[in-house]
Amino acid sequence: MRENIYFYFMLTHILFILSLVLLWFNTTTATSHGHHLVDVAGQAVHKCIEKERQALLDFKAPLHDPYDMLSTWRPEEEDCCQWFGVTCNNQTGHVTELALYGGPYTGSLEGEITLSLLNLTYLTHLELYDNSFHGTIPKFICSMTHLTFLSLAYNEFTGTIPESIGNMTQLTHLDLSENKFSGVIQESIGSLTKLTYLNLLRTNFSGTIPRSIGSLTKLTDLYLNYNKFSGTIPMSIGSLTKLTSLDLSSNKFSGVIPTSIGY
Ligand SMILES: *[C@@H]1O[C@H](CO)[C@@H](O)[C@H](O)[C@H]1NC(C)=O
Ligand SMILES: *[C@@H]1O[C@H](CO)[C@@H](O)[C@H](O)[C@H]1NC(C)=O
Ligand SMILES: *[C@@H]1O[C@H](CO)[C@@H](O)[C@H](O)[C@H]1NC(C)=O
Ligand SMILES: *[C@@H]1O[C@H](CO)[C@@H](O)[C@H](O)[C@H]1NC(C)=O
Repeated sequence: MRENIYFYFMLTHILFILSLVLLWFNTTTATSHGHHLVDVAGQAVHKCIEKERQALLDFKAPLHDPYDMLSTWRPEEEDCCQWFGVTCNNQTGHVTELALYGGPYTGSLEGEITLSLLNLTYLTHLELYDNSFHGTIPKFICSMTHLTFLSLAYNEFTGTIPESIGNMTQLTHLDLSENKFSGVIQESIGSLTKLTYLNLLRTNFSGTIPRSIGSLTKLTDLYLNYNKFSGTIPMSIGSLTKLTSLDLSSNKFSGVIPTSIGY
């Protein structure tokens, strides 16, 4: 009996030491993986990718930021996934969302969008809503064909919309409202067949509404109001059977309202 108790005592002792050794082994292998860390729940969490961190710093560099919206974006802050407005995929660590909503600091960020964004190759959501970005919409944005969400609304963008916007075929949400563009809406917009939301409110576009708009059959929201659109409203708009909001007011349309609307 006495030997038995002694045996069990030794056994638990050995098991305890063994688990300590295993724990130590686990922690050292985990930290030696560099950017793989182990969180409290023991799950692998990825920190941000260095190349993408650099791309964000390059994006920030030329911007004027009077309200310090990007105060967390500092070279000495290693994990860019923790920076304001940045969201990463929690498995891969790639930056997937950049949401820099001016909001309480309307007109916060001022400057141009720079090419460095191209190094965020896994970005699907780009939102610069309500800032003071200016300049034209760079053509390279249209080569970011992974984007599903693009909002450049409430800024001071000028110039025309590149024809290559038709390449952004994954877009479901496109908001360019409240900017100072010029020129017309390209026929190529009809290639964005996944769009459910298209907002061109107060964008200063003119010319006719391209007939290709009828290809955007998934649209639930379409705002073309407060522009200088002219000519007749294309019949094809009647193909947009999922629409729940449509505003064409305050334009210079002529002719009759197509009977196709309402069917
Ligand atoms: C990882 O992201 C997914 C999808 O966004 C989320 O459902 C999940 O809870 C996240 N996991 C952790 C550990 O944060
Ligand atoms: C993208 O990243 C690479 C490597 O960090 C860098 O050499 C290149 O200049 C970056 N490209 C842009 C457009 O910033
Ligand atoms: C993008 O669009 C332009 C003009 O619409 C076209 O010439 C070009 O081939 C497209 N590029 C890609 C990669 O699809
Ligand atoms: C509106 O667009 C026209 C050309 O389509 C341009 O001449 C004018 O400058 C634009 N207005 C503003 C306020 O940007």
